[in-house]
Amino acid sequence: MDLISIRDLDKKEIEKILSSAEDMANGKPKKKHDGILATLFFEPSTRTRLSFQSAALRLGMNYIDFSAETSSIKKGETFVDTIKVISGYADVLVIRHPKEGSARLGADVSGKPVINGGDGGNQHPTQALIDIFTMRKIKGKISNLNVSLVGDLKHARTMQSLVYALAMFGAKITLISPKGLELDIALVKEIEEKFNAKIKTKNDLVFDDADVLYVCRIQEERFADPYEAKRVKEQFMIRNEHMKNAKKDLIVLSPLPKINEIAEDIDSSDKARYFEQAHYGVPVRMAIIDYVLMK
Ligand code: CP
Repeated sequence: MDLISIRDLDKKEIEKILSSAEDMANGKPKKKHDGILATLFFEPSTRTRLSFQSAALRLGMNYIDFSAETSSIKKGETFVDTIKVISGYADVLVIRHPKEGSARLGADVSGKPVINGGDGGNQHPTQALIDIFTMRKIKGKISNLNVSLVGDLKHARTMQSLVYALAMFGAKITLISPKGLELDIALVKEIEEKFNAKIKTKNDLVFDDADVLYVCRIQEERFADPYEAKRVKEQFMIRNEHMKNAKKDLIVLSPLPKINEIAEDIDSSDKARYFEQAHYGVPVRMAIIDYVLMK
């Protein structure tokens, strides 16, 4: 079993992973694994890489870590050859790569399960599972929860995966982005049709009816024009003043890293739950490793 896109999972399978993650969070792994997990990151990461490594160790596995910078990629070895070789060294591979489709290609040539740790602006399914887990843990449900997805919805892979999972679980979704950084309309149509989702779209930072504000950064590295990225980045910041009419129990989540899109006054408020969210990365990824190895 590979996990490349959130579309690889149906609702029942996600429920199973979330329930297993709850057990893992409570220190009750149903099964310990031996074997080796390989983390292959061709793009920077803190959370995905280290939480997968921590998850592997907590499951009783070991891990090996590949870094493109210090590998034979530097001598010209191809991505495909690299994956074929490392498949013989490990039992499960986590791949992050700046090119869309790389994790799928890796899965096609690897004889071992592959988990997508983020491929370009395409998919980040394990982050979406952490996000859903966090919302359900704090709010007790996803169905009919008012979730506002805010930021660079065009380039953020976290948003491509999360919006799909939220629609599958019946959340009420509002999409808020700077002009020109809207979510792909084809994806909006797909989830409206598939899940009968009601999706609102706007460009102003008004969150009056939101239960969850999910903020992602401007994905500077995916802009064709670096000056345009800098301009949008400097203008886009969520501040406490935007929260004047917000619900008292609104929570603010983020896949992190945050750069300057969340002001310090929110960072220090009890609405900010993104560090707790990042910590749930370990039990959720333990459950994901367990799932792909047992499938
Ligand atoms: N959320 C996330 O994917 O963080 P990293 O880029 O640090 O892995």
